[in-house]
Amino acid sequence: MEHLIIVTGGSAGIGHALLATAPADAHRVTVSRRPAPDVARGHLEADLADPASWARVGDVIDAVATEREWARITCIQSAGTLEPIGFAGEVDPDRYQTNVLLNAAAPQVLGHRFLGAVSHLGCRRELVMVSSGAARKDYPGWSSYGAAKAALDRWVSTVGAEQAQRGGVRVLGITPGVVATAMQERIRATDARDFPQVERFRGLQEEGELEDPEAVARRFWAVLDDDEVPSGTVLDLRDHAG
Ligand SMILES: NC(=O)c1ccc[n+]([C@@H]2O[C@H](COP(=O)([O-])OP(=O)(O)OC[C@H]3O[C@@H](n4cnc5c(N)ncnc54)[C@H](OP(=O)(O)O)[C@@H]3O)[C@@H](O)[C@H]2O)c1
Repeated sequence: MEHLIIVTGGSAGIGHALLATAPADAHRVTVSRRPAPDVARGHLEADLADPASWARVGDVIDAVATEREWARITCIQSAGTLEPIGFAGEVDPDRYQTNVLLNAAAPQVLGHRFLGAVSHLGCRRELVMVSSGAARKDYPGWSSYGAAKAALDRWVSTVGAEQAQRGGVRVLGITPGVVATAMQERIRATDARDFPQVERFRGLQEEGELEDPEAVARRFWAVLDDDEVPSGTVLDLRDHAG
């Protein structure tokens, strides 16, 4: 029996690294606009900022999870964006709405669908939200992004407690640290008027402080394999000994 791994945002960055470092015999699927043929057998093409896509994605997750017996099922929601970086009230309203829908709404709605699809199954099952330090700290210019991550942290702790009562899916929130992806390139290219802390992030890169995505992804898998981390936990990867 195979391990089914579904990653939203598996086409790039941390999501791609999670698929690249997954067990070689796993059945890997990315849910994203672009495919990831080098690391994923399956590609469910979807713009997750479009609410019209959510029911279709939920239906496919349901169908894949139940089409055969799996040894383990892992769903990691990594799709996200910082765009548009800038102050609330100043940036383009349509792009702000896209940010809210992708970062805050889609992971909750799809998380809900995933749990409905797998709660009755007997195998090991995990649902992970990729969080951020911005959930707990103010970064002017990232208002809807930080608010979305804070919402997901609360979702994880609440739903994790629910699943500990019944359902049995381990629900986790994981903060990866500062990782060398396109998202960080975008941050460094931002004008200080839109993101006043930009110099700090440029400095981190100059000092070689950005983490390698695949090294980060391996630590993600170590957390997922660690039975000592209970459902409902929101943790910073840098605090996990494994
Ligand atoms: N990099 C960091 O330092 C850092 C730090 C803390 C947290 N995080 C979190 O880590 C996660 C991944 O970030 P990353 O740095 O890997 O970003 P990234 O390199 O920019 O990759 C973003 C991923 O999200 C997908 N995505 C974006 N918009 C989408 C949409 N509308 N519909 C479907 N998929 C979409 C992209 O796929 P397509 O373009 O193919 O659709 C891509 O696979 C995010 O949740 C982010 O908040 C990152």
